Amino acid sequence: MPTGVFTDVTHIAKVSAIDESWRQAQEHGADCIVALGGGSALVVGKATGVLGGAAKEAKLTGQRTPSIREFAFNPPVYVMPVVAIPTTAGSGAEVSPHQPMVDEENNRKITVSSAVCYPRVAILDANLMRTLPFVQATRSGVDALTHAIEACLTDQSTEITNSLALHAMQMLIQNLRKSCMTDDLQAKQACLEASCIANMACGNAKLGYVHGLARNVQTLFPVPYGETIGVFLPPVMEFNMPAALDRYVMMAPYLGVDSAGKNSIEIGEAVIYQVKKLLADLNFPRKFSEEVVDRKSIPIMAKMVFVRKLEKNLSLEELDKMELPLYGPNPNIRKATYDDFVKLYEKSFEGWEL
Ligand SMILES: [Fe+2]
Repeated sequence: MPTGVFTDVTHIAKVSAIDESWRQAQEHGADCIVALGGGSALVVGKATGVLGGAAKEAKLTGQRTPSIREFAFNPPVYVMPVVAIPTTAGSGAEVSPHQPMVDEENNRKITVSSAVCYPRVAILDANLMRTLPFVQATRSGVDALTHAIEACLTDQSTEITNSLALHAMQMLIQNLRKSCMTDDLQAKQACLEASCIANMACGNAKLGYVHGLARNVQTLFPVPYGETIGVFLPPVMEFNMPAALDRYVMMAPYLGVDSAGKNSIEIGEAVIYQVKKLLADLNFPRKFSEEVVDRKSIPIMAKMVFVRKLEKNLSLEELDKMELPLYGPNPNIRKATYDDFVKLYEKSFEGWEL
């Protein structure tokens, strides 16, 4: 079977890369896309499949093929078949219909998504993770764990999503260290499958403020995705404590926490400690460097939580004019106000202690 290869993928999926990928796929006469790589590569492959579906439709109606950015506001109806093969245990993009990407022309993060965007096939093979560097392995693994944890901490979680999320977090807490630090293929396979399961949970239960706060740092500053997730995970779990005690009690045995003789607050603290311990063992940064992330952006980022599709260059004055609702629009189990978001962003510069 003749194949063509497109490799111009960066750590974050970009509109220009996706449009170019489809241009080359067209030249090649492609009728199927195999997306191989980390989350960004899978998004580029899946989005190329969206343009492939649109091109087929355009030929039928005699129209031009649009740029991928047009589908952020006009969800795809047809896609070309995509086989997704992850080489990191993290994004779960192989079982997700979402394609988040940076639109460099308009300086914003957009998402192309619809029910037809799930890959036709996902292949989970730990052999492909053998050469994954330690840092990338840890950053993507903690993203997967955060998908599982946040799936339990939203007001949309159900028994079905909890069962997936709890199983995924147990697999990750037991295998992530070994998977990142050794060549153990069984541990890598467990993390790869857990990452897939975790995305099936959060794809339905949605995500909370860890992702809600982290995305604004990713939009404005060049901090790797996984690092932004790790920095916010402990402070957001601590913020959630008053509303999440029963959830932490539920999660405790799956995270290896012994609840015997403890009250629910002590169990919640032990759950958060367990997560911090993992982040520390995996050498995660505990705060943002002020040389990379501008602390003066805290008020802007706190407002961006309220308006998801925000242009990067929108000024503070323009944002100030916007009427904000009391609580951020996010299914996070404990609702947060603008002042809460400011405090959480402050904590991301102060760091957390074990
Ligand atoms: Fe994530």
